[in-house]
Amino acid sequence: MRVTDTSDLWWKSAVIYCLDVETFYDADGDGTGDLEGLAQRIDYLAELGITCLWLMPFYPSPDRDDGYDLTDFYGVDPRLGNHGQLVEVIRTAHDRGINVIADLVVNHTSDRHPWFQAARRSTSNRYRDHYVWRDTEPPDTSKLVVFPDREDSIWELDDRTGEWYLHNFYKHQPDLNLANPEVVDEILRVVGFWLELGFDGFRVDGIPFLEQNAKNIGDPALVVDPHELMRTIRGFLNRRAGHAMMLGEVNLAHPQQLDFFGGDSADELQMQFDFIGMQATYLALAREDAGPIVTALQERPAIGVTCQWATFLRNHDELTLDKLGDAERAEVFAAFGPEPEMQLYDRGLKRRLPTMLGGDPRRIRMAYSLMFSLPGTPTLYYGEEIGMGEDLAADGRMAVRTPMQWSAGRNGGFSTAAPSRLVQRVVPGACGPEHVNVVSQVHDPDSLWSFMRKLISIRRTCPELGWGTWSVVDQPSAQVLVQRCQLDGSAVVTVHNLGADPVTVDVPIDPRDDGLEAVDLMAEEVVTGAATTRVALEGYGFRWLRVRPAGDLAIP
Ligand code: NOJ
Repeated sequence: MRVTDTSDLWWKSAVIYCLDVETFYDADGDGTGDLEGLAQRIDYLAELGITCLWLMPFYPSPDRDDGYDLTDFYGVDPRLGNHGQLVEVIRTAHDRGINVIADLVVNHTSDRHPWFQAARRSTSNRYRDHYVWRDTEPPDTSKLVVFPDREDSIWELDDRTGEWYLHNFYKHQPDLNLANPEVVDEILRVVGFWLELGFDGFRVDGIPFLEQNAKNIGDPALVVDPHELMRTIRGFLNRRAGHAMMLGEVNLAHPQQLDFFGGDSADELQMQFDFIGMQATYLALAREDAGPIVTALQERPAIGVTCQWATFLRNHDELTLDKLGDAERAEVFAAFGPEPEMQLYDRGLKRRLPTMLGGDPRRIRMAYSLMFSLPGTPTLYYGEEIGMGEDLAADGRMAVRTPMQWSAGRNGGFSTAAPSRLVQRVVPGACGPEHVNVVSQVHDPDSLWSFMRKLISIRRTCPELGWGTWSVVDQPSAQVLVQRCQLDGSAVVTVHNLGADPVTVDVPIDPRDDGLEAVDLMAEEVVTGAATTRVALEGYGFRWLRVRPAGDLAIP
């Protein structure tokens, strides 16, 4: 690997931060976050050290699925601002060394999108084939619905035309017919449009459903090959912008994920979220046993050099545990979400990490250190850097979509509007802004924010973790994970104690006597030049060591 590769394939050593403009910062005081407010907070993100900003949907939308139900692929929701302000956000971010990616929703639109409004006027309407219809009574699909509290079928009868349309998500989100070349052409124009405006890529929403449709629709004329579609979008994306990246939401088994990377050709998605590794991490945290993480990482398929996993602990949806076995999921529920109001759809938890870990600062830091040390690109959800909690009284997934907590002041400093006008209320109680906020933490060297900033800065000096060859270092303690990522002549060895009890482990540093030494990246000091170093960890302790030739003056 040449150092210049790290800029060409920037996503392999990035730190990604996801936010929703509407809940980040309200500059005009109307109760809804806006692009002007985000522009004012870009320096905050730069100070934290993130290098890629993922904007959740900002398109015009009736907002019945938090913007994932859009009515205009080319628009900006006027509540958030306009195209000019969006360009200012992107330009300011670029100036601070931050790439910006947009959520791209290709699976469906809102039922209020002009295409669907036209499509449902008659079976011969010009836009009819932009969506997926059937003229016979659908079979029972109640097992396939994503939101079982709201839907009982993935087909909905359209009264006016007497046919059923497909909707994998809510019935107000009809699925697009991606087997129709006109729709694909439009998607490509959308991609081209936002690239031209300055975006550096996309987080691509709901990809498994493209595949599921192929299996469920039945009608060969409507079946889309999801891989051909991904190759088409990827080819177009990189013809228009060589540096642009697609990060896919593909919560599928490893072999299918490998297919969505494009297998050996690596010509589909460059990045995918590591849903399996994330779920295994929660099982490991619940058991205080590193085993599930080791298994998940060892089972990860090998991916192309341009490809990358995005590691994460939380996002804007429920913490899905769908890839765990029933008994394993029950273990995680018991440990981190025992009350019914913390659970969602029998498969997940509507909580943020700090509350799940009982607010224990040692365990919270260890969990983030662990996630940042896994091979891949770490991804944060806004508010994680200060340890925001959830609002369990909010409806479903909205529990983790509360306003950013900037200060202890009115509305947590998010907005000057009357609290009743806020897009969503701020978290009440022990995790509320009086106790958890940016202002108090940036001035406190011992705060979670200061820790996260340091973690991010260390992670950014470790291309080994994004690029290197990963292995588990054998040692006898089940509660400890020792990993080594090797890249050319340098390695990063991380040691994490998932358990509450102190433990001491022997970590091989230079078993072949190659003249290596280890530097503690957190303490910034040489710890050993010995073949094996004895690492003593407190309960939930961790250590990051860089192993390199003794006396090598590379910084750090
Ligand atoms: C996945 C998104 O993460 C989720 O929030 C949304 O509801 C569905 N896709 C539908 O767009």
